[in-house]
Amino acid sequence: MEQRFRHSVVDTMAITPTGPTPRPMRYSDLPTTVDTTMAASNSDPLHQYVTETSDRNYARFLRLNDIMWRYIEWSVRTYTQSIWTIDGGKGFVTIDGGDRTFSKSQKLVRKIGDILTRGLHSFRSRELRNRLAEFKDKTNDIIMSNLGQERAKEMIGLSGIAVHPDLQGIGYGTQLGQVDVFDGRESFVISSNEAANTAFYKYLGYETVATYTVGESNPAWKKPPVHLALLVRKSMKQ
Ligand SMILES: CC(C)(COP(=O)(O)OP(=O)(O)OC[C@H]1O[C@@H](n2cnc3c(N)ncnc32)[C@H](O)[C@@H]1OP(=O)(O)O)[C@@H](O)C(=O)NCCC(=O)NCCS
Repeated sequence: MEQRFRHSVVDTMAITPTGPTPRPMRYSDLPTTVDTTMAASNSDPLHQYVTETSDRNYARFLRLNDIMWRYIEWSVRTYTQSIWTIDGGKGFVTIDGGDRTFSKSQKLVRKIGDILTRGLHSFRSRELRNRLAEFKDKTNDIIMSNLGQERAKEMIGLSGIAVHPDLQGIGYGTQLGQVDVFDGRESFVISSNEAANTAFYKYLGYETVATYTVGESNPAWKKPPVHLALLVRKSMKQ
């Protein structure tokens, strides 16, 4: 397949893709992809913020709720071709935006998925719902104030990228960061772990445009604030 997205960083990249390459996700990849995201997010500070809540009486159901949420979300994304995997789900990237239009059936599936995930959300504890709302609101503010609605809509948004811990460091993330949907468009990503992941995104050609935190004024969160970043990769269209 012709590689439409080119970038100077990619041109000089030390890693030459020789193993599996990313492709749109299939339903048969779902169990492996869910396993990957659960394993890869364990040490992620944002994930900890939205799971280690003070009202942990929901903890047993939290994991189940999380797994069910991911199965629904990833199924909808598989149907609408907005998730790509590598090595049968050992790594994945979810992709939004790009001024994309959906067919009638895709819109219907998205709506059903939305109803189901909202239902699951209502079973989450109050503290968890508050923390998720804090993350969502602050992220939306950062995107709107730095990119604006129109630009953000036209850009590709990477809303999740993860590689199974057993397979990190061998180039899967790099390949997922350049899947063949970019078509030269600008893209942005929210880094859920500014300290650990900025080097990876810079390697892919992204630059930090804003940083922010969650948890800094939450008395129920005893750990340091979680540092997040908005990063942008410029358009390669001439
Ligand atoms: C971030 C992540 C997707 C990177 O995937 P990966 O397959 O390990 O990345 P690659 O092997 O393609 O690495 C490419 C380059 O990025 C950099 N890099 C990757 N992970 C890094 C890390 N944790 N810290 C610093 N640099 C990193 C390195 O420079 C590496 O180049 P090198 O191999 O020459 O050293 C993966 O580590 C991951 O899934 N992490 C947990 C989930 C997560 O944090 N996702 C991002 C949410 S914002």
